[in-house]
Amino acid sequence: MSAASRPFILAPSLLSADCGNLGGALCSLEAVGVPWAHWDVMDGHFVPNITFGQHVIRKLRSVSDIFFDVHLMIQNPERFLDDFREAGADMLVVHAEATIHLQRVLTRIRQLGMKAGVALNPSTPLNALEYILADVDMVLLMSVNPGFGGQTFLPSTFAKLRRLRAMIVERGADVDIQIDGGVTVANTPDLIASGANVLVSGSGFFSAPDYAARFAEFVRAAESGKTLTL
Ligand code: DX5
Ligand code: ZN
Repeated sequence: MSAASRPFILAPSLLSADCGNLGGALCSLEAVGVPWAHWDVMDGHFVPNITFGQHVIRKLRSVSDIFFDVHLMIQNPERFLDDFREAGADMLVVHAEATIHLQRVLTRIRQLGMKAGVALNPSTPLNALEYILADVDMVLLMSVNPGFGGQTFLPSTFAKLRRLRAMIVERGADVDIQIDGGVTVANTPDLIASGANVLVSGSGFFSAPDYAARFAEFVRAAESGKTLTL
């Protein structure tokens, strides 16, 4: 499927939800038809923050059937792949910077029956993907330095995103492109026009008083992005 024809997917980051009521947040997402929930797992080593882990995800799995997109901001993620599978993750995204044997980790994620994604920090060049595109279902470009919600989107992401899309089209690779960090309704059209099809939004989504209305705004913004030529 070409990048342009891939369906738009919104993945709200639970990092910005009420952490005392994650079950309620998941139910709300499902009720308004949001397709994915994005879990930001942080270990205090790879990033300077700690959030939730496999035990919390396992507990919340029974609450909802929504797709669990699990973003592992942890050093040496290979230690925990089986745990996150058992917890109910549908996709595991690992950072290229966090493991030495990246191709092995991605292969193992798929062997466990999950979709595999690779994430790149803002300063990591696209050539990190050179020999692993066939091993992933999704590439995540970080548009902030990971560790915290509510940061400002880095504009350099656009050039990187366009180059990534060109690379994927040239290779005929079958992968989604996800953008994570500082995504809002306002920058959604340009992100879609530049080649992204999966958008993570934490503060830009959960700050809304009405999730159904905010989701509709994202969908409309994504539709308008499909008609833009940059
Ligand atoms: C950053 C996380 C993001 C972040 C998104 O380390 O990976 O998912 O929480 O939050 P916003 O949309 O508020 O930047
Ligand atoms: Zn994330």
